[in-house]
Amino acid sequence: MPKLETQIAIVGAGPSGLMLSHLLHLHGIHSVVVEDRAREYCETRIRAGVLEQGSVDLLRRSGVADRLEKEAMFHRGIEIGFNRRRHRIPMYDLTQGKCVTVYGQHEVVKDLIARRIADGGDIYFDSSAVSIHSIEGPHPLVRFEHAGRSYELAAEYIAGCDGFHGVCRPSIPPGILQCFERIYPFGWLGMLAEAAPSSDELIYMHHDRGFALFSMRSPQLTRLYLQCSPEEDISLWSDDRIWDELFLRFECDDGWRPIRGPILQKGITGMRSFVVEPMQYGRLFLAGDSAHIVPPTGAKGMNLAMADVAVLADAFHSYYCSGYSDALDRYSAICLRRVWKAQRFSWWMTSLLHRFDDQNEFDHRRQLAELDYVTSSQAAATSLAENYVGLPMEQ
Ligand code: FAD
Ligand code: DHB
Repeated sequence: MPKLETQIAIVGAGPSGLMLSHLLHLHGIHSVVVEDRAREYCETRIRAGVLEQGSVDLLRRSGVADRLEKEAMFHRGIEIGFNRRRHRIPMYDLTQGKCVTVYGQHEVVKDLIARRIADGGDIYFDSSAVSIHSIEGPHPLVRFEHAGRSYELAAEYIAGCDGFHGVCRPSIPPGILQCFERIYPFGWLGMLAEAAPSSDELIYMHHDRGFALFSMRSPQLTRLYLQCSPEEDISLWSDDRIWDELFLRFECDDGWRPIRGPILQKGITGMRSFVVEPMQYGRLFLAGDSAHIVPPTGAKGMNLAMADVAVLADAFHSYYCSGYSDALDRYSAICLRRVWKAQRFSWWMTSLLHRFDDQNEFDHRRQLAELDYVTSSQAAATSLAENYVGLPMEQ
């Protein structure tokens, strides 16, 4: 069996695993990434699209933002719509010059993979039977199969960056982690359409038929979402039905509507809020979706993943410079403070904008009053804006 050695074994080549590997490399710390999917799959998986100011600053500071500077779209506001009218939240003005950046998660992943490979990084794509061992002791191990051979990777620490369905979190013995969870009674039908975005900014639309979101990926590609049942049968959604529903939900008095085009890709996502505490056990550190999930309404998931690994990379740096593990010991507590604030915001945006089946007329009126408040009070709009552009990395 080939034996490999590294300082940090990273399971998962999503935004968290790749960014961690990149930041560790900049600190002179060796890592090996083990990923169960093919490189092409990771580079084309359409997911998040909104980067907070802090995530973009981190990409810039660490030298992986060249393509982002050329291709991303920088947004200074978002629109919130209800009762056939849209209202702009001027985030840039309300946050002393912060904005969000629209740049597909798969583009971030592409840039990070290219950079890791250019820097001589080791990423084992297409691995199978990935498992982690001996996380309580000083010599943890990752075992996996790759290209028909079995590997054993000895490390000093393991980073579980393998998403919500990965193997790392379930490898922690029962009784150690506390899980906090809420599952929502709806999902999102997400579409990528070959059509020029007909608005320069994102539109979050409340509607009696359910929430709708207008976003984009490029000057030629519109990204759209519709609230649907979590068990929705996607085969029942023809292109005509999708566009009819989008036009209904976005219909406003000013006549604005998205530009129609062929649907290139569609999929359904369930929605949950989930946190484990602590985000560490023995020599295993969990980061990103392996430790927490947010409903996508606040656009926070990828950004939380970036913030976690920024803290983790600094903690490893401090450990390898000083020999003291106090920064590593604080990792979970530092991340969880920010994670819970993002949970709160994502839950709030979700409750504000979605239709709940058990909603009575009181709840409906209260929801409309809250939308009216958020879009007419500078104090309320400022709170939304400062959370949407992202709280400081270590808060
Ligand atoms: P992942 O991206 O899930 O990466 C985990 C990696 O581990 C994957 O490559 C996976 O293949 C690999 N893996 C899994 N199991 C194993 C194993 N056993 N062995 C080896 N490798 C394994 N977030 C935002 O910030 N903004 C948004 O606008 C936004 N919109 C979203 C819209 C949708 C429709 C969805 C689904 C998500 C959205 N998110 C958004 C959330 C965001 O995509 C995730 O939070 C983000 O992908 C988390 O990154 P991660 O690296 O922690 O996990
Ligand atoms: C996108 C996804 C989100 O969850 C969100 O809140 C905003 C935009 C997107 O994919 O573009």
